[in-house]
Amino acid sequence: MLTIKNLSKTYDNGVKALDNVNLVIPKGVFGLLGPNGAGKSSLMRTIATLQDADSGSIDFDGVDVLNDPQALRQRLGYLPQDFGVYPRISAYELLDHLAILKGLKNKAERKEAVEGLLAQTNLYQHRKNAVSGFSGGMRQRFGIAQALLGDPDLLIVDEPTAGLDPEERNRFHNLLVSLGEEKAIILSTHIVDDVSELCPNMAVLASGKIILQGNPIELTNKLNGQIWRKAIPQAEVEAIEQDFNVISKRLFAGQTIIHVIDENAPFGFEAAPANLEDVYFSTLNDHRANNQDAVTVSQVA
Ligand SMILES: Nc1ncnc2c1ncn2[C@@H]1O[C@H](COP(=O)(O)OP(=O)(O)O)[C@@H](O)[C@H]1O
Ligand SMILES: [Mg+2]
Repeated sequence: MLTIKNLSKTYDNGVKALDNVNLVIPKGVFGLLGPNGAGKSSLMRTIATLQDADSGSIDFDGVDVLNDPQALRQRLGYLPQDFGVYPRISAYELLDHLAILKGLKNKAERKEAVEGLLAQTNLYQHRKNAVSGFSGGMRQRFGIAQALLGDPDLLIVDEPTAGLDPEERNRFHNLLVSLGEEKAIILSTHIVDDVSELCPNMAVLASGKIILQGNPIELTNKLNGQIWRKAIPQAEVEAIEQDFNVISKRLFAGQTIIHVIDENAPFGFEAAPANLEDVYFSTLNDHRANNQDAVTVSQVA
């Protein structure tokens, strides 16, 4: 179990990337959902001991992460958001090389580990090909293979599904779910479906703050009976937004389907079952409205 308490970080340029973050992350796939710039990568890098926090604490099963980073590194696998450039060597050679860096010195054991991970990530038949020529999905699976070297208890994956096609994303999801049976996995993403498909626990991060946390099913159930939808021509969107509490807009067959949150049925709308997107967007909208108020108040003052 990973416990984060009162974690804050302001960069030298004055950006407050983490603002008093508190989180408890158990075994399984934990979804950290947030828009671009929310602070997800800052939080991932801090947990992965690659950057310092200004204040707060992180505990992983008794390891004091910020004060004893080396102890965590031995139990950690990390797939950064930008894995960078790959050399033109085969997947097998690259993983073998990374295994040496990770401290797997025994040749026979290393061979077994490397072959096992290539098989687990469905890359064994591609092991002789260069990773530089892999598709996006294959690269991300290779990224997981390298993160799994040394059999970590904690796996951090930062926006791993961005840019994958549906089939690759599905395959990647299945891999994460099977890994989550034994490990704590933190998955950061801006894609709501990643969280609804994979995560029994989640949190929403926005402007460095945790603005929502819980079980996706329970959070969604709380909105049931309050979500209403209507298909409208695009030209009417702006007017509807003036009059109703619109939480999401989605194009379907050339029409705009809007979701509105309200305790009572607005005229002309039909009831819609709540989904995690409704939870996410209504939470973000509230957060932005509150911040807007704060800005207005400070400007007036
Ligand atoms: N090294 C850095 N120096 C200064 N500002 C940074 C740095 N890294 C990120 N930021 C800023 O911190 C905020 C959070 O960024 P980031 O953690 O990358 O968010 P996310 O991963 O959710 O998109 C952004 O405003 C970003 O511009
Ligand atoms: Mg990021």
